[in-house]
Amino acid sequence: MRDSRTRILFVCLGNICRSPLAEGVFRTLLREQGLEGEFQVDSAGTGSWHNGEPPHPGSVDVAGRHGIDISAQRSRQVRGSERGDFDWWVAMDRSNAQDLQHLGLPEEAVLLLLDFAGPGTPDDVPDPYYEGGFDRTFSLVQAGCQGLLDHLLQ
Ligand code: 4NP
Repeated sequence: MRDSRTRILFVCLGNICRSPLAEGVFRTLLREQGLEGEFQVDSAGTGSWHNGEPPHPGSVDVAGRHGIDISAQRSRQVRGSERGDFDWWVAMDRSNAQDLQHLGLPEEAVLLLLDFAGPGTPDDVPDPYYEGGFDRTFSLVQAGCQGLLDHLLQ
C-alpha cells in the first residue's frame, strides 16, 4: 500500500523553464510550513528535447535571487504510464493540460496552476524560453503555488 502523501507533478513543455520553478517554489513553501512529509513533488515536460538537462540559466538565476536552488533538477518527459504515480498533474498552460489529457491522464486530475493564482492573473504561465521575462514568470508561479497549496490544505 502506498503512503498517504499527496503526489503532485508540475508540467510544462520543456521542463527547463516554468515547471522547474514551480517544483522549487512549491518545495520551498512546504519546507517553510513544515509540510515536506505530506507531499511528494516532481516536475516534467510534455516534450523530450531537454531530457537530462538542468533548468534554463534564466530560471536558475531568478530562483536563486529568491533563495531557491533549482540547479540540481534535471529535465524529463512525462509519460501516460505514470497515470498511477501522481494525484495531481499541474499544467503551466492550457496547451500542456491538453497534451496531458491526450496522454490519457485523468481529466479531473489535470489542473491549471494559474487557476489558483487569484483574480487578475492570466490563464497561462508565460513561457520565458521564447521571450524572456523570467521575473514575471516567477511571480506568477509563486502566486499559483501558494494558491494551490492553500487549496490542497483546505
Ligand atoms: P518550458 O519552456 O516549457 O517552460 O520549459 C520551454 C523550453 C524549451 C522549449 C520550449 C519551451 N523548446 O522548444 O525547446
